[in-house]
Amino acid sequence: MDTIKSTNDSWNAKLYDNKHSFVSKYGSNLVELLAPKQGEKVLDLGCGTGDLANTFYAYGVEIIGVDKSENMVEQAIRKYPHIKFRVQNATELDYHKEFDAVFSNAALHWVQQPIQALHGIYQCLKKSGRFVAEFGGKGNVQTITDEIIDQIKVAGFDFKKEQFPWFYPSIAEYSTLMEDVGFRVTFAQHYDRPTKLDGDDGLKNWIAMFGNQLFNGIPEKAKNEIVANVESNLKETLYKDGNWIADYKRIRVIGVKE
Ligand code: BEZ
Repeated sequence: MDTIKSTNDSWNAKLYDNKHSFVSKYGSNLVELLAPKQGEKVLDLGCGTGDLANTFYAYGVEIIGVDKSENMVEQAIRKYPHIKFRVQNATELDYHKEFDAVFSNAALHWVQQPIQALHGIYQCLKKSGRFVAEFGGKGNVQTITDEIIDQIKVAGFDFKKEQFPWFYPSIAEYSTLMEDVGFRVTFAQHYDRPTKLDGDDGLKNWIAMFGNQLFNGIPEKAKNEIVANVESNLKETLYKDGNWIADYKRIRVIGVKE
């Protein structure tokens, strides 16, 4: 069963695993930041195709992975049948004081209602439980997204603010939200993480994997032309020695439930 369902799930799990495995590779030192102990119960929120959930499993952790994409969860189950995965939205968590930790890598920038997600995360945790997350922060991939939006407009299409699918907070904004739901924020960092996108088609693949929503309502032919213009305009800034380098800016936070 290797097909991708044609639901309204826009996530392509194969493209994710084949061309964007850096997502979980970068996440492995976030696992170390969480410092899981054998026997702990951990929720992996936005688990994608399950690679980091499997890292937790290797630590002897009781891990549950959740992701809002059915395609991703199906692929995770195929790869790691020994782990429990569920399709679940970050804003609809229904666990109550069950977990020693909630972990989230490269997912929370997709959540446009952060307070709702943070309430659910807080509810999931036992007392003293920790929340460890990394995701896109203020200014993330802005060189790329600014150029895409400019080129959409140059091509004569409208771009509405609501089409921008990501939430990229500063650490001041996100720490405040965490405190509002009750966390003590013990760590917060906002840093540049230039990210290599594989090969000549790296930028095009990245846009196909993550940026589709920006092109809602734009016919395929026009979309391809816009992407070609974006590549040509960004080549001088982001293409170095045979690879595209995306201007990722990440935030990392740790919160403790007191
Ligand atoms: C990120 O991990 O920062 C990211 C990935 C895809 C789209 C936007 C941001």
